[in-house]
Amino acid sequence: MKLSENKATLSFSNGKPSVDFPVYSGSVGPDVIDIRKLYGETDMFTYDPGFLSTAACQSAITYIDGDKGELLYRGYPIDQLATKRDFMDICYLILNGDLPDAAQKIDFDAQVTNHTMVNEQLHFFMRGFRRDAHPMAVLTGLVGALSAFYHDSTDITNPRHRHISAIRLIAKMPTLVAMAYKYSKGQPFIYPQNSLSYTGNFLRMMFANPCEDYVVNPVVERALDRIFILHADHEQNASTSTVRLCGSSGTNPFAAIAAGVACLWGPAHGGANEACLNMLEHLQANGGIEKVGEFMEQVKDKNSGVRLMGFGHRVYKNYDPRAKLMQQTCKEVLKDLNLENDPLFKLAMEVERIALEDPYFVERKLYPNVDFYSGIVQRAIGIPTDLFTAIFSLARTVGWIAQWNEMLSDPEYKIGRPRQLYNGASFRDIK
Ligand code: CMC
Repeated sequence: MKLSENKATLSFSNGKPSVDFPVYSGSVGPDVIDIRKLYGETDMFTYDPGFLSTAACQSAITYIDGDKGELLYRGYPIDQLATKRDFMDICYLILNGDLPDAAQKIDFDAQVTNHTMVNEQLHFFMRGFRRDAHPMAVLTGLVGALSAFYHDSTDITNPRHRHISAIRLIAKMPTLVAMAYKYSKGQPFIYPQNSLSYTGNFLRMMFANPCEDYVVNPVVERALDRIFILHADHEQNASTSTVRLCGSSGTNPFAAIAAGVACLWGPAHGGANEACLNMLEHLQANGGIEKVGEFMEQVKDKNSGVRLMGFGHRVYKNYDPRAKLMQQTCKEVLKDLNLENDPLFKLAMEVERIALEDPYFVERKLYPNVDFYSGIVQRAIGIPTDLFTAIFSLARTVGWIAQWNEMLSDPEYKIGRPRQLYNGASFRDIK
């Protein structure tokens, strides 16, 4: 970041002397006011629940312009990345800062495929879970448990260890997610097949069984790979900030990523794709397209507690660029699988049409987000609804680990420790 000529001056109405703060500029996007000395000089904190105006770190990984509807990974726009590159390229880019050349790609793919298996002991660990456990409960436990297996890569001060942990996490997530699915079905786990692509291997671990192999459909493989690309990173969202905060104490990477998985589970974040599909299915079962208007009235009624899932975003106040790509993928997959007349897709299109014309949504700048269509694609592929957020975790792992690594390499990094405005009882004695 570079120091701007501009500075910010804070003045008080009670006659206290005003204080100047430096302003810094990034490469693009809003400047920041450096308030680190605020407490020391004024005895006051800032108050910003939900971090609406607070940059908690500097980062060179992902840039979002919410007004323009722009998303860049390391400077490259998401539509170019999603249409011209595969998920392994995106992982390399997010981790290393640039796209791989041919030799780097071969080497990176080999590093990842070298780590796709998990310690056999994890199969026994898995057996402690109920078969009907939510996959995100299982995944939070499994990812946290990795720190009990890979003691040789948990020295966070060693860049080599950090790199190996990153590769291990990216490589093992598909195996763990597929294991969670197989376990819920009561089917045997399928070992990774390293001759397949990252995404093809995941599909096979999900859908093959010992009696019947699975032939990867290239349209489905490409669609899932795109889902992974679109979810790979999204700057300082709730789960990424959780990974950074958790990791800021110096904990090991597996523990920090497990915290990210737990945070992602919530319906306002990664759980939205599951919640969105449940919403569409509920609507379909209760009158379908005919009842969309009535449902929208409920959504607009603040007392109903109903939100239109898959709509709205803290940062995008224009169309989420990922939603456009997802809608296109949705059409391709449904066509390839002869599901073009899928009633849920038609219903989703109708909900979107009505919302985009309704002043409630227009005035609040509420547009479809990536989760609005991703659930329909995953459902068409055969992925059960309760696994959607686990798939999101798989894809976001590269973003989490890159952000964690960036934090540890930042000379300005400190343990995260927000302050508070205390409004509880003041000092009192026990009578
Ligand atoms: N349906 C109906 N009203 C909404 C919605 C929605 N989905 N989202 C926001 N609003 C209204 C909200 O009631 C408020 O209205 P008012 O100003 O009259 O009080 C206004 O829009 C602003 O909402 P907010 O809650 O202050 O906005 P936020 O930035 O805090 O929330 C959000 C962002 C994503 C949590 C929210 O839009 C939401 O709950 N969306 C549905 C869940 C969802 O799809 N989440 C996925 C996000 S994308 C994937 C990811 O990054 O994890």
